[in-house]
Amino acid sequence: IIVCENNFHGRTTTIISFSNDEDARKSFGPYTPGFIKIEYDNLDALENTLKNTKNIAGFLVEPIQGEAGVYVPSENYLSKAKALCEKYNVLFIADEVQTGIARTGKLLAVDHENVKPDILILGKALSGGAYPVSAVLANNHIMNVIKPGQHGSTFGGNPIAAAVAIAALTVVKDEKLADKAEYLGLIFRKEIGEFAKTNDLIKSVRGKGLLNAILVNDTEDSSTAWDICIKLRDNGLLAKPTHGNIIRFAPPLVMTEDQLMECIDIIKKTITEFN
Ligand SMILES: Cc1ncc(COP(=O)(O)O)c(C=O)c1O
Repeated sequence: IIVCENNFHGRTTTIISFSNDEDARKSFGPYTPGFIKIEYDNLDALENTLKNTKNIAGFLVEPIQGEAGVYVPSENYLSKAKALCEKYNVLFIADEVQTGIARTGKLLAVDHENVKPDILILGKALSGGAYPVSAVLANNHIMNVIKPGQHGSTFGGNPIAAAVAIAALTVVKDEKLADKAEYLGLIFRKEIGEFAKTNDLIKSVRGKGLLNAILVNDTEDSSTAWDICIKLRDNGLLAKPTHGNIIRFAPPLVMTEDQLMECIDIIKKTITEFN
């Protein structure tokens, strides 16, 4: 399976086997072999690996790398990567645990490029964040490789979890949360982008929909982003750094425009005072 550098797909032993985050890997093991790491957002690296390696089963990718710091790939990266996977008969596997279910302004982040993954992984917002539910989706010719009874877990297929997920998805649809995320995200990036021009501490803002990050003018291993987050907390807003110089903002999709403006005011005030 081909994976990308700086990926985050979770914390199980197989998953951390192909992480390059030493914090996630250290003291665990033995690691699972069978993964090839390539640079994210690099189609040449993908094609070279597909061309030169036998028995590749799949390409596992985050449509936006969340934990890495909200890295949005180049335009058409996903559709071109999917086309390469088709050319070399390899499954395109999208991990939308973080980007999925309206977060980036579409129901799925791959929808921005009209890509249909062969395998789609969902979690987090699938239940509105209220209940542990995750899902792996694929068409029958892939899914039926596993026969009934060959794979399972004690609480898998939990009916309460399924009901919660259906209710959450109904809210996402009825309240048009994808459109809302798209609209509010444009305001967030415009406001913070303009603010960044006037403030030396903020380099830039990036993201899609309501999955955004601000880049702090400091090094990756500094504590500045963390220190800012503590001040944000004191001022009434919770956010978490992904690195010493990146703060990620992933607010509830049900927020109103007034609430977003209040958040933007808190961010501006906190950063201005931090200087
Ligand atoms: C892209 C991605 N995949 C997988 C996971 C792991 O999900 P879980 O914590 O439910 O195992 C996360 C969690 O942040 C994630 O962002």
